[in-house]
Amino acid sequence: MKAVIPAAGFGTRFLPATKAQPKEMLPVFDKPTIQYVIEEAVASGIDDILIVTGKNKRSIEDHFDKSFELEYTLRESGKKDVLKQIQEITDLADICYVRQKEQKGLGDAIYCAKKHIGEEPFAVMLGDTITKGKIPCTKQLINVNQKYNSSAIAVEEVPNEKVERYGIIKGRPVEDCVYKIDELVEKPSLKEAPSNLAIMGRYVLTPDIFDCIEETEPGKAGEIQLTDALSKLNVIYGSIFDGKTFDIGNRLEWLMTSIEFALDDEKSHYQILDFIKTKI
Ligand code: UTP
Repeated sequence: MKAVIPAAGFGTRFLPATKAQPKEMLPVFDKPTIQYVIEEAVASGIDDILIVTGKNKRSIEDHFDKSFELEYTLRESGKKDVLKQIQEITDLADICYVRQKEQKGLGDAIYCAKKHIGEEPFAVMLGDTITKGKIPCTKQLINVNQKYNSSAIAVEEVPNEKVERYGIIKGRPVEDCVYKIDELVEKPSLKEAPSNLAIMGRYVLTPDIFDCIEETEPGKAGEIQLTDALSKLNVIYGSIFDGKTFDIGNRLEWLMTSIEFALDDEKSHYQILDFIKTKI
């Protein structure tokens, strides 16, 4: 299976940090966000990845490219561990790029992948969203896609105050944690929301989604919304992700994610804990 990572957005929620650098390259603890996304793809059995980029996104390509000078310098100075880490980044997967010429929304960004994808189901992984779970989120979706031979999207229960920020689904349970979806609404008010099951940034889609995107008019914020295109699919399943999702497009969540990941790291755990204790 191939994966598409949309990473062309302006990241306006994170300005000014994202004025000249992609939010997908903001580090979470010790790695850029998009590297976690690619590692999830690889852990899910995917090694053909298309990143949708745009203006000011050169550093994404540079990060996954080979850096002869840097490797030479690290080798000469005997920094073997770092050298190994740097080389591993380049070898992670086959990565190619396509440019979204105008930031017309997530649906439009996915449409840029049409030629690369062809006729097979493919994964979509938002470049500003990290997931953590025993089974990688995309792998869980691939399993649902293969079982029902249909598109599958990851959903997560969100508290009422967060409903307005996400695409929300209405569905009927078909098995534990899997819903057949009847309705999807992009960023509804709490009153309009059909449930509190939110779409959280991971999808495995059948290629008929491209026809659906073609038929989709600009929606909320004048953008071609992926949620509106998904509503046009004949059959689609929602799978509650057994794990945790982190949306780093939002500055506070980005900061909290970095702290959580630093706490997960054996070497940094106690230093961070001591620091937090002094602050409270
Ligand atoms: P977001 O809606 O979170 O990204 O899209 P954004 O538009 O950059 O963010 P804000 O709201 O202005 O802060 C989720 C993912 O889809 C990509 C983004 O780069 C992000 O990784 N995206 C979004 C595109 O590739 N193209 C678009 O036109 C919009």
